[in-house]
Amino acid sequence: MATSTTARCVFLGAPGAGKGTQAKQVAEHFAAAGSPIAHLSTGDMLRAEVKSGSELGVAAKGYMDKGQLVPDQLIIDMVKARIQQPDAAAAWILDGFPRTLPQAEALDENLSGDQALTHVISFSIPEEVLVGRLSGRRTCGKCGAIWHVENRPTKVEGICDTCGGELVQRSDDRPEAIGKRLEVYRTQTAPLLAYYGDRGVLREIDADRSPDVVFQELLERMQ
Ligand code: AP5
Repeated sequence: MATSTTARCVFLGAPGAGKGTQAKQVAEHFAAAGSPIAHLSTGDMLRAEVKSGSELGVAAKGYMDKGQLVPDQLIIDMVKARIQQPDAAAAWILDGFPRTLPQAEALDENLSGDQALTHVISFSIPEEVLVGRLSGRRTCGKCGAIWHVENRPTKVEGICDTCGGELVQRSDDRPEAIGKRLEVYRTQTAPLLAYYGDRGVLREIDADRSPDVVFQELLERMQ
């Protein structure tokens, strides 16, 4: 099993494919081995902005609640600033970015030489599995741990096993927003599979298996 990394990777996949669950586990694995990898989730960054009531958060909230993408330039500026932080100097996982061609092109322009992307992992999963994953997801309002009412239940309903925080349902995990997010993935994000396939950095993983099996394969793919 890999214990150090200089990976700079993108986790690409539909809503609910398990990108966030796996990125957290990969980050914990490498942190425990003394070789940290920064988990850069644009969804988490945006939710933090919404919570803080910042100008970006106010601008983003309406799009997020409807399951639409936040405009490219807002996201690109946010990621450019985040990726320059010291904790992302050695290795990082971009979870949820890029998800449009302009975002992928902006990322390419921003990275060069020894900062270039090393892997793009595509989380492949049938669409019918995703609705059940998203509608049953619960997230800890305190530490951000991701649970599921059936697939990954907490010991006490509604309470996070990790920190004791209260679990919440994301506002975009309602049926209307889920349908829109899946449509947005099909039309705007899925074309990135060909974009990265052409560059020879794309590796596909079957994400319709248990989280532990996916995790083990992911570590192998990230070597
Ligand atoms: P974001 O937070 O990125 O949402 P997403 O891409 O829709 O992805 P999810 O977080 O829904 O799914 P995931 O793949 O991480 O799955 P998870 O691990 O949680 O974005 C939210 C919104 O912000 C967007 O709609 C948009 O408005 C905006 N935004 C973000 N980035 C943007 C960008 N780049 N450009 C423009 N707008 C942007 O797992 C899901 C559930 O399944 C959990 O309950 C989990 O426990 C369970 N599960 C996970 N793995 C398994 C498994 N192997 N088996 C069974 N259950 C599993």
